[in-house]
Amino acid sequence: MYRSHNCGELRIADLGKEVTLSGWVQKGRDLGGLTFVDLRDRYGITQLVFNMDENAELCTQARKLGREFVIQTIGIVKERSSKNPNRPTGDIEIEVTTLQILNESKVPPFTIEDESDGGDDLRMKYRYLDIRRTPIQNNMIFRSKLSLETRKYLDTQGFIEVETPFLIKSTPEGARDFVVPSRLNPGQFYALPQSPQTFKQLLMVAGVDKYYQIVKCFRDEDLRADRQPEFTQIDCEMSYVHIDDILDTFEGLVRHLFVHTLGMDLGDFPRMKYDDAMRLYGSDKPDLRFGMEFVEMNDVAKGHDFSVFDSAELIVGICVKGIAEQYSNKDMKELTEWVQRPNIGAKGLVYVKYQEDGSIKSTIGKFYSDEVLQSWAEKFGAQKGDVLFILSGETDKTRKQLSELRLEMGKRLNLAKPGDFKPLWVMDFPLLEWDEDTARFYAMHHPFTSPKKEDIPHMMTGNHETLKNLKADAYDMVINGAEIGGGSIRIHDRALQAKNFKLLGFTPEEAENQFGFLMGAFEYGAPPHGGLAFGFDRLCAVMNGQSSIRDFIAFPKNNQGRDIMIDAPAEIHDNQLNELYISLNPKGN
Ligand code: AMO
Repeated sequence: MYRSHNCGELRIADLGKEVTLSGWVQKGRDLGGLTFVDLRDRYGITQLVFNMDENAELCTQARKLGREFVIQTIGIVKERSSKNPNRPTGDIEIEVTTLQILNESKVPPFTIEDESDGGDDLRMKYRYLDIRRTPIQNNMIFRSKLSLETRKYLDTQGFIEVETPFLIKSTPEGARDFVVPSRLNPGQFYALPQSPQTFKQLLMVAGVDKYYQIVKCFRDEDLRADRQPEFTQIDCEMSYVHIDDILDTFEGLVRHLFVHTLGMDLGDFPRMKYDDAMRLYGSDKPDLRFGMEFVEMNDVAKGHDFSVFDSAELIVGICVKGIAEQYSNKDMKELTEWVQRPNIGAKGLVYVKYQEDGSIKSTIGKFYSDEVLQSWAEKFGAQKGDVLFILSGETDKTRKQLSELRLEMGKRLNLAKPGDFKPLWVMDFPLLEWDEDTARFYAMHHPFTSPKKEDIPHMMTGNHETLKNLKADAYDMVINGAEIGGGSIRIHDRALQAKNFKLLGFTPEEAENQFGFLMGAFEYGAPPHGGLAFGFDRLCAVMNGQSSIRDFIAFPKNNQGRDIMIDAPAEIHDNQLNELYISLNPKGN
């Protein structure tokens, strides 16, 4: 028997028991006649004590233990004279009678404690040591609990989990595919799924009715803190449903998850139209933990000989509360430079300060009288001590820039409190998105998304503006400014699907070639259906107040898409290439 108890469970009630514990040596301390060792496993840390006077040989052996040695000890549970209230086992210690080294360890490359001194690369290279650290271990435990609760909830709602294939066909829509060469079919390739979208729709045609899958998805896209090339979705689909059925079911899922993991009831989720989200927050994933809604100002700011505003498509601002005195000229200059950074791209920043003494200070005081600037305060609901920040220019770009500034001010002023969760549904997304570079429309969600019923007649007008304004039965779930999930009601009619492909620039042959299997299935009694997918890694991170998903994935990739622990991707042998009929071009050609 390696252990009678784990390292997190012994308490005062266990005093006097003889116990066997196994685990890793976190650290040791020699205090003259006594040697203490912290023994750690997944469940906690228990202090071992060795007494030089009582057993010199054992104590000498203990002093030689290195960090991360794996040991087994037998001993008696004793009450500690100096207790550690920060540790659940802090009232007791084990007076060791037997010590056995099960395995030695090299000195670890970083400290295996809550706060590690290891940089990202080092931690990733030795991820198995990183996962020994309590915060990462807690993330893994949280993730496991979240998937268990997901299954429990969906099971009670009558969903069944169905696995779909990982070796599928490449399609040009969406992100880039990861492809896999086929040995048995020379010159041909599978693709790894970006999502099980078409398969789950086929499962609806197949009568599965309520499907889910906690599933790996693969996308060859540029990586960021909230994106990994392989990530996990909670993927769901339902038949015979309208939007409300879907929103209710999956709002229910997220509420269940918050109650059963964080003990928190989120209440009903507000719903906001995409157009309103863009108008009020400049973002389709607004962070509602703080206000600072946009106020559009074309009606009050144009016509005062300020050419920047007069020539702008949109003039729009936010009111930041209580910073007029706190933000010096230097701070304003720094903030102006911040919005001018290439990744934000604003030309400049206009501010109007309503100072505590009632005076007004502004970068545009030359063009606008104090009375006009005072009237703006009313429009914004600003009071003494507040500052308006105003940007102008082309509508979409300006909204995006102001959205960045809003989030930055929220961050600087600490307005987003840890443990505060503000979910919402963003509804009625546009069906199509115009891309200037390729001069064509792309599906904003994906090509299987249904247009709103009232917009179907306008799909074939050919008028650019009309097409840009078509709306879809598509929705996203957003929590604290992160897109946690998204989905739509799907097209289930072959003719409408063909129309949509035509809008997206597919010839009938291309549509047939790439998605004929789905359109064919629609001819055999496809039920109305819809669904959504949650980003499972993102949900884990957001529920824990973190923006990076990496530490919720046991073995993540770095920003270059590499696994630096196993050193992948890597070259393969010539005979493997030959078998796959692949000949490589010399690098760079
Ligand atoms: P979508 O592409 O919006 O929809 O993806 C659903 C959710 O998956 C998460 N996500 C990611 N998480 C980590 N790394 C990535 N690279 C990544 N990409 C996406 C996001 C996102 O909201 N088939 C549709 C869903 C449907 O219509 O039912 C789909 O995949 O949280």
